[in-house]
Amino acid sequence: MCGIVGYIGSEKACPILIDGLLKLEYRGYDSAGLSTIENNKIICLKDKGRVKGLQNMKEINTLNSSIGIAHTRWATHGKPCSVNAHPHLDCHKTFSVVHNGIIENYNELKAFLTNAGYTFVSETDTEVIPNLIHYYYTNGDEGDKDRFAKAVRRATLDLKGSYAIAVISSIEPDKIIVARKDSPLIIGTKDNEKFIASDIPAILEHTNNVYILNDGDLAKITNNNVTFYDEKFNTINKKAEIITWDAKSADKNGYDDFMLKEIYEQPTAIRETIGTRLDQNGKCNFDDINISKEYLLGISRIYIVACGTAMHAGLAVKPIFERLVSIPVEVDIASEFRYRNPLIDKSTLIICISQSGETADTIAALKASKAHGCKTIAISNVIGSSITREADFTIYTHAGPEIAVASTKAYTSQITVLTLLAIHFSEVLELEQGEMLQNLKDEILELPSKVSITLENTEQIKNFAKKIYKEKDVFFIGRGTDYTACMEASLKLKEISYIHSDAYQSGELKHGPIALIEDNVTVVGIITDRRLLYKSISNLQEVITRGAKTLIVTNQDISEKTFPNIIRIPKVHPLLSPVLSIIPLQLLAYYVSKEKDLDVDKPRNLAKSVTVE
Ligand code: G6P
Repeated sequence: MCGIVGYIGSEKACPILIDGLLKLEYRGYDSAGLSTIENNKIICLKDKGRVKGLQNMKEINTLNSSIGIAHTRWATHGKPCSVNAHPHLDCHKTFSVVHNGIIENYNELKAFLTNAGYTFVSETDTEVIPNLIHYYYTNGDEGDKDRFAKAVRRATLDLKGSYAIAVISSIEPDKIIVARKDSPLIIGTKDNEKFIASDIPAILEHTNNVYILNDGDLAKITNNNVTFYDEKFNTINKKAEIITWDAKSADKNGYDDFMLKEIYEQPTAIRETIGTRLDQNGKCNFDDINISKEYLLGISRIYIVACGTAMHAGLAVKPIFERLVSIPVEVDIASEFRYRNPLIDKSTLIICISQSGETADTIAALKASKAHGCKTIAISNVIGSSITREADFTIYTHAGPEIAVASTKAYTSQITVLTLLAIHFSEVLELEQGEMLQNLKDEILELPSKVSITLENTEQIKNFAKKIYKEKDVFFIGRGTDYTACMEASLKLKEISYIHSDAYQSGELKHGPIALIEDNVTVVGIITDRRLLYKSISNLQEVITRGAKTLIVTNQDISEKTFPNIIRIPKVHPLLSPVLSIIPLQLLAYYVSKEKDLDVDKPRNLAKSVTVE
């Protein structure tokens, strides 16, 4: 939520900042702004709306300096408007700050600063930060070469809540100070240029050599140097990490939208995620995850905790773990789990799934589980992300950067890697499921090509999108794993088309939801489980009788005579079917959104990574 970009080096800062903001717009997009220093004076430009508005401001072209900070906002405190947009300045206009996160005690700090003579113009929590820095700078030692960095450090010690900040000052115009707690921040280095960002795609085209800040870290950045400090302002050493993502992977690459590109990247994402975890000889490799037979025998329950699409991936793999490992699995929404005192202890294994690795609730759930003595595994797509720093073990999906707010390739990659983990656990436990495991392994290796086949069928989906894009409600029904895929399909549709949609277990329809079915209501059914075929068909017939128009996604033998709109997907192991059945419905959501002429990649009110509660 909210994107930060910063630059210090030898080039003009503004074009680099704007370019970085455009790449980070998926983090928030209700206002944007930047600050640079020209002739020892801070120049701050900001505007409500998309980064394009900022980019088109005439003044931008007059700015030549080689230092700057910038921000794209997802409003928390204060409505989206130019005054509330970042950067914020202190009332003496000597410090400028961009901030991600929430300062929980800002009212208290505002009262203290007001008492000390400071004034405020915005409704934001952030504005206390530059003023607090000014306060501590004024009280600092004259002649101290680190007076600016120390003032930032001192100010951050007063902040309660979460923050990633980047600060510049007209008094010391040759450096940027950054700090983080519970909000991501990275520093990229390339010769005498330094790049700051809240997320990797913003700087990928400049460098893949990055330092990832930990909670409590502060850094002083000049064009030649980066010095890191801990909370007590002692210098600390940090090792740079090399990001293996290709710069092109953060571009649209000829597609109209990131979402469509990411849908079509799924065969590759799944193949890369399988990677070396499963070799052609069928050997599963999780040597980096130190989970022993003794440990698994002592486990009474596995909790899978996540938000949004990641939670749906958890629901999809619950039956896989239960079948292969015979340990009960609970899937929980992170924001609920963390506050409901779950019955967990060292006999509970916690698996947290987070594409970004930065979702505040999921990280908090993981921390709470550790405090209860649980072992924790993070499934993430982003190297070095916050969750990977907290978990006992991390398993990466290798889906490449996911930029569209609506998650697609992360979902199918998460299911793939978690299925492999379940197979691995079964092997560690020596559960003698040889044939079933081999079967699943073969099916996993075939997933990329089956996903490719599924992606070929778009005409029918486009046509159906044309039929339903004006609808007010759409229902998705299925049983078992088909129901879990329905939940994800329904989320996709409502996120990007703003059509109300709900998912129901087909068998539950008669217990209430069927009251909503009337002439012309759209019902989408997924049917991939042969055992439940006739029951699922009956449920769909019940809605047709009541006037519904239907779309069926299936790999079963169902005739067009029974149902007019059938999308056929390849046969697949029933446990893995969500990986295929979701594909046409991701496309359906996409094309409905296009029919409505909406911004597919940046749906209203949403953000890609939700770094606040
Ligand atoms: C937000 C995004 C969703 C995503 C969820 C969890 O709500 O809009 O697409 O599924 O966060 O994100 P994570 O990065 O933790 O997987």
